[in-house]
Amino acid sequence: MEFSIIQGDITAFTADAIVNAANTSLLGGGGVDGAIHRAAGPELLEECRRLHGCETGKAKITSGYRLPANYVIHTPGPVWHGGGAGEEGLLASCYRSCLHLAEENGCRTVAFPSISTGVYRFPLECAAYIAVREILAFSPIAKTVQSVTMVCFDERTKAAYEAALRHAQQE
Ligand code: APR
Repeated sequence: MEFSIIQGDITAFTADAIVNAANTSLLGGGGVDGAIHRAAGPELLEECRRLHGCETGKAKITSGYRLPANYVIHTPGPVWHGGGAGEEGLLASCYRSCLHLAEENGCRTVAFPSISTGVYRFPLECAAYIAVREILAFSPIAKTVQSVTMVCFDERTKAAYEAALRHAQQE
């Protein structure tokens, strides 16, 4: 399973599934959630309404509608409250839940945004370390997922994920 890190707009990325950094209502919001809903069109929200929300750390899948991606995998990341409320474990669970759901739906290519590092204020370096660790840990058990791409919206985020990958490869 390949893992790559790029800078870009995940709504324009062609993959079997793109991941949405959602909230537990799954009814849209700002940031990448807002961008994905705007690009996918109103049918996405209609399908999301029928899902009745999603717990933090878990994931649910919908069609991608007008997006280049076939599916959107929605996962609510943890809000950062200082690190003492299980945030790190919940963020790790987001990545695992999304990858397993992608496998179950026969996805070969999956793209992630940097979950929780925007509005939810999760420290970027720590989030990047967790994301890279979970993605690399999934690699040996992946059956259908052949490539995972981290789509970073800005250079600072991309640099943090590249640093996390370098550190993980030295461990
Ligand atoms: N493509 C890729 N990444 C993006 C895009 C985009 N089009 N737009 C924003 N991002 C990046 C942000 O720069 C940040 O690095 O996604 C990362 C996650 O930031 P947020 O979207 O703020 O998500 P998060 O921190 O998980 O907060 C989720 O924000 O939008 C609301 O409804 C959402 O309540 C939820 C909360």
